[in-house]
Amino acid sequence: WIPPAAALLIGYLLGSIPFGVILTRLGGAGDLRQVGSGNIGATNVLRTGRKGLAAATLLLDMLKGVAAVGIVAALFPGQATLAAAGAFVGHCYPIWLGFKGGKGVATLMGIVVALAWPLGLVYAVVWLGLLAGLRISSVAGMAAAVSAPVAAAILGPFDIVPLLLALALLVIWKHRANISRLLDGTEPRVGRAKNAG
Ligand code: G3P
Repeated sequence: WIPPAAALLIGYLLGSIPFGVILTRLGGAGDLRQVGSGNIGATNVLRTGRKGLAAATLLLDMLKGVAAVGIVAALFPGQATLAAAGAFVGHCYPIWLGFKGGKGVATLMGIVVALAWPLGLVYAVVWLGLLAGLRISSVAGMAAAVSAPVAAAILGPFDIVPLLLALALLVIWKHRANISRLLDGTEPRVGRAKNAG
């Protein structure tokens, strides 16, 4: 058993690793925060033109969510949801970047997969389906985030519905600049190199 604060902290420390910033810098593509939307996620890494780095960012941002939940659940059963919350907050508000982090879509995917894989499947289908159809990363990501509490309310496990609902609302909050751009009709589509401001 560990105190709940420790589960939160383990989750936070794993979630706060800013893979997008690290990989972009190691790959010689500069400071990701000066590119496109300034976001630290895979969509913005793609705007550097480095598809491999973007794919690696997507994978690692997902895996840190899986790791946070998986490690804490294995060592300290019953504390997985705290680790999930910690990992999500760590990605969105990392201490290492002055609390200016990402929008949580990839990390939430990993968290959902680790908490209940059938919900992860729903998340992936909604995310990738909308991304392929619309090619607007923010819309696909927000819809996927909302699909998690909806799917959990239908399929279970019901006890994680409040957590998933809170995280989905945070994903939407983190996308508020994207929502403004969507309303203005200026949100860039994936695959077109254009600064999102
Ligand atoms: O996961 C982030 C994505 O939904 C939006 O990223 O860079 O277009 O703001 P970006």
